[in-house]
Amino acid sequence: MSTITCIAAVDANWGIGRNNTLLVSIPSDMKNFRTLTSGNVIIMGRRTLESFPNGLPLKNRVNIVLSKNASPSGNGEIIVRSIEEALKEAEKYEDREIYIIGGESIYRQFLPYCTKAIITKIDHAYEADAYFPNLDRDEEWEIAEESEEQTYFDLPYTFTTYVRK
Ligand SMILES: NC(=O)c1ccc[n+]([C@@H]2O[C@H](COP(=O)([O-])OP(=O)(O)OC[C@H]3O[C@@H](n4cnc5c(N)ncnc54)[C@H](OP(=O)(O)O)[C@@H]3O)[C@@H](O)[C@H]2O)c1
Repeated sequence: MSTITCIAAVDANWGIGRNNTLLVSIPSDMKNFRTLTSGNVIIMGRRTLESFPNGLPLKNRVNIVLSKNASPSGNGEIIVRSIEEALKEAEKYEDREIYIIGGESIYRQFLPYCTKAIITKIDHAYEADAYFPNLDRDEEWEIAEESEEQTYFDLPYTFTTYVRK
């Protein structure tokens, strides 16, 4: 089985979104996300697909979208009905990495299948209504790598890699 990696940007409280949008958009974080996921498989929830510009799937990636009811829009995304179906579909692309890209419901359900989590930690507390599970409080996870502190204007953040112990 391929490695399955969660990738998310979280705030000081592990918040990830509000009103189906991101809390903040940091260009170098977006660039890092694009670099890592391009050419690979991304798995997301229906609401996260809807949060993208014009609700379109992301280019140069295999977009797998979980939904109980939605049907394909014709823009290239693959709709699946369950976690099992998503994993089965992703495994068809043997030579590609698999990234879980959100949102909250998808991170929670796929975390048990992930062995790595690439987390951009933003050192500011926003008002949020969607969260990533707090890996600092989860004994199964530890930090393997942490970048130097970066800044976007006056906003500090770090690129952090967690691995399952
Ligand atoms: N900061 C970050 O890195 C980041 C990344 C991604 C998203 N986000 C944020 O996360 C928030 C969205 O999270 P969310 O939890 O509300 O939505 P979501 O996880 O993106 O999508 C939820 C939808 O996925 C479908 N779904 C979930 N589990 C399923 C299952 N087991 N089988 C079939 N379908 C399933 C359902 O669609 P149906 O209702 O169609 O059945 C459900 O309504 C937004 O604020 C977004 O901006 C943040």
